[in-house]
Amino acid sequence: MKRHITLGEFIIENQKDFPYAKGELSALLSSIRLAGKMVNQGINKAGLAEIVGAAGGENVQGEDQQKLDVIANDMFISTLRKRGEICGLASEEMEDHIVFDDAIHSDAKYVVLIDPLDGSSNIDVNVSVGTIFSIYRRVSEPGSPATLEDFLQPGNKQIAAGYLVYGTSTMLVYTTGNGVNAFTYDPGIGSFFLSHPNMKVKENGKIYSINEGNYVHMPEGVKRYIKWCQELDPATNRPLTSRYIGSLVADFHRNLLKGGIYIYPQGTTAPNGKLRLLYECNPMAYLIEQAGGKASDGKTRIMDIDPTELHQRVPFFCGSSEMVDKAEWFLKEYPSD
Ligand code: AHG
Ligand code: MN
Ligand code: MN
Repeated sequence: MKRHITLGEFIIENQKDFPYAKGELSALLSSIRLAGKMVNQGINKAGLAEIVGAAGGENVQGEDQQKLDVIANDMFISTLRKRGEICGLASEEMEDHIVFDDAIHSDAKYVVLIDPLDGSSNIDVNVSVGTIFSIYRRVSEPGSPATLEDFLQPGNKQIAAGYLVYGTSTMLVYTTGNGVNAFTYDPGIGSFFLSHPNMKVKENGKIYSINEGNYVHMPEGVKRYIKWCQELDPATNRPLTSRYIGSLVADFHRNLLKGGIYIYPQGTTAPNGKLRLLYECNPMAYLIEQAGGKASDGKTRIMDIDPTELHQRVPFFCGSSEMVDKAEWFLKEYPSD
């Protein structure tokens, strides 16, 4: 009989992967799991509860309404603050990083970056959204307050990264540098179970994911790549399939399972694209590389980019390695300037 492994058991069993760790990272992953369950509950109720709407607005009772991405942000902060594993956190929802500067936190070794709710415009229409997280070891001295430098580290220094996808089922997918494992949530029991061990992405897939509404603003190489995707594949006598949800997490998750490429390129209206390096692209790049795929900005490996700002944007080409190679080839062959 197949043994059921919960996420909690898996985290404890794999603590041995970190010979010098004293269990803080395992505890931190457990805290993220807990916060994810809370956000999941909020999302599931979003159609019922009066929590959908613009932040700053009022609901019918005249109470302040909060957008779910602000609520998700608060849930992660309060859950992680109640435990002692991190000394600071940065989020898409906050301009500056926050420092957990008290006795239980200042000795902590780790910092976390999050996109608490990714694809949030999809909430109102009952389409999948997610949470993305990235974990680094601090570079500042333990015992002192966390600094901006703790957060501005290249992706190749990540200790762990992952996402929750709140879809037809809720899943938590993460890596600590020893492959990618995915856990599916059983809401009746309240536990995540290992459902997709050691995930690998196909070297070549059949799906391309890009917002083609931006076509006229795209670099020539990306336009040519899209046209190449639309040509008939002699092996199947079909073009590639276009799929774009508009939630990076959901688009990434599908392409990880089926093989494909996700692109958010630079454009004339967004010179560095839209996605954020530190809490969207780096964690996804770590996951896709651990699954055997590739992530670049069209030229440079995403995880080798030295960040200069917390909310820095970067063009993003991510997925099956042969597809990313092909897109890079088009960018090189048809330079825009
Ligand atoms: P967020 O909801 O965290 O702001 O992220 C939205 C991002 C990403 O999830 C998605 O892939 C992309 O924005 C979609 O952008 P377009 O609507 O421009 O295609
Ligand atoms: Mn996002
Ligand atoms: Mn977001």
